Amino acid sequence: MKIVFFGANGQTGRLLTSRVLDGGHTAVAVTRRPSDFPFSDPRLTVANADVRDAASIVGVVDGADAVVPSLGVPFSVRTIDTYSVGVANIVSAMREKGVRRLVVVSSTGAYHYPNRVDAPFALRIVEPVITRTIGKSTYDDQRRMETIVRDSGLDWTIVRPSGLFDLPEPTNYIAGEVEPVGGYTARIDLADYMTKLAADATTAGKTVVISTIENTPTMWQMVRREAFKSA
Ligand SMILES: NC(=O)c1ccc[n+]([C@@H]2O[C@H](COP(=O)([O-])OP(=O)(O)OC[C@H]3O[C@@H](n4cnc5c(N)ncnc54)[C@H](OP(=O)(O)O)[C@@H]3O)[C@@H](O)[C@H]2O)c1
Repeated sequence: MKIVFFGANGQTGRLLTSRVLDGGHTAVAVTRRPSDFPFSDPRLTVANADVRDAASIVGVVDGADAVVPSLGVPFSVRTIDTYSVGVANIVSAMREKGVRRLVVVSSTGAYHYPNRVDAPFALRIVEPVITRTIGKSTYDDQRRMETIVRDSGLDWTIVRPSGLFDLPEPTNYIAGEVEPVGGYTARIDLADYMTKLAADATTAGKTVVISTIENTPTMWQMVRREAFKSA
């Protein structure tokens, strides 16, 4: 399969690159920073494009069997629209080129899960504060993005991970049309699941979650690792 992924130079995107190539697929990694992209492989093409620039991505999705955006923008109190504008441009490019399969990363943080299983106490306190303050603009835009995907007419799957952290190998994660378990998702698990979803359209038209339940960090470890990038 030829899989095109956006956000390829991000933390999840780099892991996706490895999983896609290890899975025997052909990959097109899209980034605005191709000179920083650390992989080369005969089955890998690195494309320079900005999802906000509709014209720059039409050629990039041409001939794809699946398109996988894992776009990320830092939290900001300013209006964020990269998720919705970017995915709208990707959907439009896919329609133009007749590409059907779309697997998009969103976030459980953008939605209320009243029956969430085993949510850490600290997360239950902190998450509502984040979603109403520093994360509001991000989550508002992720909800707009999800609406665009649902209305796209494509064979879409929306994947909602929880707080992302890093592990060296995939675990026995929980994924599918279930309530999130705990508060975290390992990026390697997310990359593994997205690679499988790209190659299997049985979840087309569905929104799924993915939760890591082994070797998860405490909330304090999470803050240290993600905010200050130290172990
Ligand atoms: N962090 C969390 O706890 C958390 C929780 C739930 C869900 N998520 C979601 O999970 C996804 C992956 O997160 P991550 O931490 O792996 O991401 P990340 O490291 O922040 O990478 C995001 C990537 O998005 C790309 N991007 C941003 N604007 C772009 C644009 N205009 N055009 C093209 N590419 C653009 C950047 O690519 P270049 O700079 O290379 O072009 C960057 O590599 C994101 O969608 C995030 O919202 C995160």
